[in-house]
Amino acid sequence: MIIAVDGPSGAGKGTISRAIAQHFSLKHIDTGLYYRAIAYKAILEGIDLKHEDVLVQLVDHITTDDFLLPVLRAETIGNAASKIAVIPIVREQITRRIHRFCQEIALPYKGVVLDGRDIGTVVCPNATVKIFVTANPDVRANRRSMELKILTQQNSNDILNQINQRDERDQRRIVSPLSPASDAIFLDTSELSSLESCNCAINIVLNYLSTNSGLVQVTSY
Ligand code: DC
Repeated sequence: MIIAVDGPSGAGKGTISRAIAQHFSLKHIDTGLYYRAIAYKAILEGIDLKHEDVLVQLVDHITTDDFLLPVLRAETIGNAASKIAVIPIVREQITRRIHRFCQEIALPYKGVVLDGRDIGTVVCPNATVKIFVTANPDVRANRRSMELKILTQQNSNDILNQINQRDERDQRRIVSPLSPASDAIFLDTSELSSLESCNCAINIVLNYLSTNSGLVQVTSY
């Protein structure tokens, strides 16, 4: 079973993906971490983000241990990741690594939940269920500010600007832009709590399973 969860930053993809993974005993893969880890390494090693051939080599050197670095969560790294994400050869190499990783960790899990920007469209176009998570930009900026423990209005406004810029870059890039797959189910979390968002997403998967297995599932939470 492959569940694809796409959407812009701060919409709730990560929380929702983790909840789906836990509920259905699947492995969760946050694909943004690949882009963030490369951005961080590039900054650390002083590599110009224009040096595509050097950046692509970094892809093979990142390990899942790199994903544990708390610094990867910083907004500056998210922005740098979004700049790296426009480079086609880097995207291709990351997609290859994600496919390899899925195959390596497939056992003992029943499947995977991947979250990102192009999972339903490019990484796993044949995913079992595709969910496109959205929320309005103000809500997303507020959530991000709370996550980063930002308390002043000025800093919240900065976060909103950064989120808007990042979304625009992610949506406008030529290769694998952030966009819903034609068969994705939309989940707008603007008015939902974290728990409600997770329950909605789990219900989307349960509904899919019940209509496709002939079984009747209980879908109330
Ligand atoms: O999901 P995130 O905020 O950790 O992602 C950071 C950046 O990485 C995001 O702005 C765009 C890029 N990204 C991507 O292009 N494709 C993905 N599948 C995941 C992330």
